[in-house]
Amino acid sequence: MKGLLAALASAASVNLCNAGAGIVIPRDASPEVLAAEALAAPMILADRALSNSPTGGYTPGAVDCPSTRPTIRLATGLSESETSWLQKRRPATVQPMISWLSRMNISGFDAATYINNNMANFSNIPNIGIAASGGGYRALLNGAGFLAAADNRTSNSTNTGQIGGLLQATTYLAGLSGGGWLVTSLYSNNFSSVETLRDGSPDSSVWKFGNSIFEGPNSDGIQILSTADYFRTISDEVSGKADAGLGFNTSITDYWGRALSYQMINASNGGPGYTFSSIAESDDIQNGQIPLPLLVADERSPNTAIVSLNSTVYEFNPWEMGSWDPTTYAFAPLQYTGSNFSAGSVVANQQCVRGFDNVGFVMGTSSTLFNQFLLQINNITAIPTFLRNIFTNLLVDIGEDNNDIAQWQPNPFYGFNNQTNRNAQEAELTLVDGGEDLQNIPLYPLIQPQREVDVIFAIDSSADNQDVDTHTWPNGASLVATYERSTNATIENGTAFPSIPGIKTFVNLGLNNRPTFFGCNASNTTTGQSGIAPLIVYMPNSPYSYNSNITTFTPSYNNSERNAIIQNGYDVATMGNGTLDAEWPTCMACAVLSRSFFKTGTAVPAACQTCFDRYCWNGTLDTATPADYYPTFKVAEVNISSGASPALVVTMGAYSSALLVAVALMMI
Ligand SMILES: *[C@@H]1O[C@H](CO)[C@@H](O)[C@H](O)[C@H]1NC(C)=O
Ligand SMILES: *[C@@H]1O[C@H](CO)[C@@H](O)[C@H](O)[C@H]1NC(C)=O
Ligand SMILES: *[C@@H]1O[C@H](CO)[C@@H](O)[C@H](O)[C@H]1NC(C)=O
Ligand SMILES: *[C@@H]1O[C@H](CO)[C@@H](O)[C@H](O)[C@H]1NC(C)=O
Ligand SMILES: *[C@@H]1O[C@H](CO)[C@@H](O)[C@H](O)[C@H]1NC(C)=O
Ligand SMILES: *[C@@H]1O[C@H](CO)[C@@H](O)[C@H](O)[C@H]1NC(C)=O
Ligand SMILES: *[C@@H]1O[C@H](CO)[C@@H](O)[C@H](O)[C@H]1NC(C)=O
Ligand SMILES: *[C@@H]1O[C@H](CO)[C@@H](O)[C@H](O)[C@H]1NC(C)=O
Ligand SMILES: *[C@@H]1O[C@H](CO)[C@@H](O)[C@H](O)[C@H]1NC(C)=O
Ligand SMILES: *[C@@H]1O[C@H](CO)[C@@H](O)[C@H](O)[C@H]1NC(C)=O
Ligand SMILES: *[C@@H]1O[C@H](CO)[C@@H](O)[C@H](O)[C@H]1NC(C)=O
Ligand SMILES: *[C@@H]1O[C@H](CO)[C@@H](O)[C@H](O)[C@H]1NC(C)=O
Repeated sequence: MKGLLAALASAASVNLCNAGAGIVIPRDASPEVLAAEALAAPMILADRALSNSPTGGYTPGAVDCPSTRPTIRLATGLSESETSWLQKRRPATVQPMISWLSRMNISGFDAATYINNNMANFSNIPNIGIAASGGGYRALLNGAGFLAAADNRTSNSTNTGQIGGLLQATTYLAGLSGGGWLVTSLYSNNFSSVETLRDGSPDSSVWKFGNSIFEGPNSDGIQILSTADYFRTISDEVSGKADAGLGFNTSITDYWGRALSYQMINASNGGPGYTFSSIAESDDIQNGQIPLPLLVADERSPNTAIVSLNSTVYEFNPWEMGSWDPTTYAFAPLQYTGSNFSAGSVVANQQCVRGFDNVGFVMGTSSTLFNQFLLQINNITAIPTFLRNIFTNLLVDIGEDNNDIAQWQPNPFYGFNNQTNRNAQEAELTLVDGGEDLQNIPLYPLIQPQREVDVIFAIDSSADNQDVDTHTWPNGASLVATYERSTNATIENGTAFPSIPGIKTFVNLGLNNRPTFFGCNASNTTTGQSGIAPLIVYMPNSPYSYNSNITTFTPSYNNSERNAIIQNGYDVATMGNGTLDAEWPTCMACAVLSRSFFKTGTAVPAACQTCFDRYCWNGTLDTATPADYYPTFKVAEVNISSGASPALVVTMGAYSSALLVAVALMMI
C-alpha cells in the first residue's frame, strides 16, 4: 500500500506542477522526522477540547447506554442543556457588555446605568450573535480578522477606534464551512485567541497553511510526518471506522475531516479522538464564560443531487445536532450519534455508540462540497480536459454510492417524524456543505425565535457569482437567500428576517462594500407580528489593506499572506481602526442596543440616530444592471514579502489533483 500511496502522491505533484504549484515530494520517516513527531506531542497552546472517544482514536466505540437511554426529541424548544447554560452565560455577558458599550463612547448615554436598570428582564439585555460565513481558507482568515478585532485579548484591540470586547459580550458564535473551521479550531484549542493560533509555536502545525492538506503538516521546516506516512495514518483511521462492525459507512468527508484536523487542532495527528460534544465538558462552557459554538450543514434528500433553498438545514451545537425545520423538526444527542436509533430510541438490547461526532468529521460535514465538483466540473476551465474526464468518472462513481457527501449512518432520525422528515426511511442521513443552499452565512441557528437573538454580526467572506460577478468578493447573495427562505411559509417555521434588497441593489448602492444594518425598523419583518427579527449588521469582505478575495479553492497560504488576510479582516471589522469613520465603534454599539431600545421603549440617543441614518439600509432600491465590481483599497495596501507566492496561482487545478488523491485513498 505504501508504494501505491507514494505513487499517488507523486501523481499529485505532477498535477500540481501543471497548475504551477510547488512539488510534493513524498518522504520516508527519517530519524529527524521521528524526532519531530516526538517533539510535537506536548505543545504550548495548552488544554484543548477533550479526547474522549471511547477507543481513544477516530473509530467510534460501543459503550453501555446511560441508565436513561438517549432519545431523539422534537424541536419544540431549546434543549435543557442550552437553557441551563444560558442561565450562566447571559449574566456573564453583562459586565463585559457594560465595559464594551462604555468604551464605544455613545455620547450622552450611560451604558452601565442603562444595562443595570434593565437587568430585571434579561430579554431586554442585548443578546449578541456572530456568524462567520463559508468560503474556504479565505473565510477562515477573514472571519479570524473579525474575531481578533472583537476579542479584548488581542493586543491593542481596546484602544480608541477599536472594538475589542464585543466577543466577550457575545452569546452565540456560528460558523459554516470555512467559517466552521475557524469556530471549530478556536473551541478545539480551548478557545485560544486568534492571535495565539496565528502565532502558534515552532512545534505546532496548527494554522500553518503553507503546506496544503494534501501534503501534510510541517513544523518550522521539519515535516512532522512524511506525506506518505500522513496519508497512511489518515487512511488507517478511516478504515478503522469503516471496519468497526457498527454499521458505519465512510465517505470522502471522513478523509477530508481528518486532513483538516491536522491544521485546525493542536494535538498529535490532528486529535483523532476529539469530539465536538466534548466542547460541552470544558470549564469555560460549563461556567458560561465563552459563547456557544454552532455549525451548520444542509440535508440532501434521497436520490437528489441538488440542494435548494427549501432543503432541510441542520445545526450542530455541543449537545445536539438536528433541525428546526418543519421537515425533520428534531434533535439528537450529539455524543450518542452513531448509535442505532429507530423511531427516536436506541434499538432495544443494543449498546450505545460514542466517538462518532469526531470534531474533524463535524467540521468536515459542514464543509462537504464535493458534490459541487460534479455539478460544476464542466464550468471550471482551470482543470485540464484529461483530469476533468478522470474526475467526472470518479465523481460519478462515488456520487452514485453517495460517497461524495457526509454520511451520518446510522441515521439518528430514522423512523422519526415519518410524515414530514424527508429522510425518515433512509438508513443514512446525507449532509452537505451548509452553504450549498446559498445561505452561506450561518444565520439559521441565530434566527430561530427560541434563541431570541437581538443582533447578528454577519461576516460575509463569500465569493459570489450569482447574478452579478463580483470577482470573488461578496454581493449579498447569502442574505438574499436567507431572506427568501424566510418568506416561504412552508419552510420558515417562525424564522423572522428583515427586508433585504436584491443583489443588484447591493452592488449599486455599495451595500456589499461597507457595513450595512438591515432591519433597523423592528416592526418590519418577513413574518409580520409573529416575531421580532434580529438586526443584521452585514460585514462584507472588502479590500482595506490586502486583496483578500482569494479563490475558495486555493489550498495553501504562506504565513505572510495568512497574516495579511487576517489583518484585512481586522480592518473590515474596525473600518481601519476608525480611519474611515471615527464613529464606527459607536455605531456598532448602537446596533447592539437597537432591539433593546425598541423593547424597553427607550428614546434612541442622538448619537445612535446619526449612526442609523448612516448605516441602515433605508429601503431604496436600484435594480439597474451594475458595472463590474472592482473595489479599491480603503487604506494603504500592505505588500507582503512574497506577494507572488505560488499559493496565489494554485487554484482549482491543484485542489482537484489533491481531491483525486483523496478519492483514490477511499478506494484502497
Ligand atoms: C477581557 O474581558 C473580560 C470580561 O470583561 C475581562 O475579565 C478581562 O480582564 C478582559 N481582558 C483583557 C485583556 O482586557
Ligand atoms: C467620545 O465621543 C465624543 C463625541 O462624539 C468625542 O468628542 C470624544 O473624543 C470621544 N472620546 C473618545 C475616547 O473617543
Ligand atoms: C500595539 O501598540 C503598540 C504601541 O503603539 C505598538 O508598539 C505595537 O506594535 C502594537 N501592536 C500591534 C499588534 O499592533
Ligand atoms: C416553499 O417550500 C416548499 C417546501 O419546502 C416548496 O415545495 C415550495 O416550492 C417553496 N416555495 C417557493 C415559492 O419556493
Ligand atoms: C423545493 O422547491 C422546488 C421549487 O422551488 C421544488 O421543485 C422542489 O421539489 C422542492 N424540494 C423539496 C424537497 O421540497
Ligand atoms: C414549526 O414546525 C412544527 C412542526 O411542523 C410545528 O409544530 C410548529 O408549530 C412550527 N412552528 C412555528 C412557529 O410555525
Ligand atoms: C455549469 O455547467 C452546466 C452544464 O454542465 C450548466 O447546466 C450550468 O448552468 C453551469 N452553471 C453555471 C453556474 O454556469
Ligand atoms: C416510522 O417509520 C418507521 C420505519 O419505517 C416505522 O418502524 C415506524 O413504525 C413508523 N412510525 C410511525 C409512527 O408510523
Ligand atoms: C489597526 O490596528 C491594528 C492593531 O491594533 C494594526 O495592526 C492595524 O495595522 C491597524 N490598521 C490600520 C488601518 O490602521
Ligand atoms: C436612502 O439611501 C439612499 C442611498 O443609499 C439615499 O440616496 C437617499 O437619500 C436615502 N433616503 C433617505 C430618505 O434618507
Ligand atoms: C418593509 O421594508 C421594506 C424595505 O424598506 C419596504 O419595501 C416594505 O414596504 C416595508 N414593509 C412594511 C410592512 O412596512
Ligand atoms: C480580486 O479583486 C481585485 C480588485 O477588486 C481584482 O482585480 C481581482 O481580479 C480579484 N481576484 C479574484 C481572484 O477574483
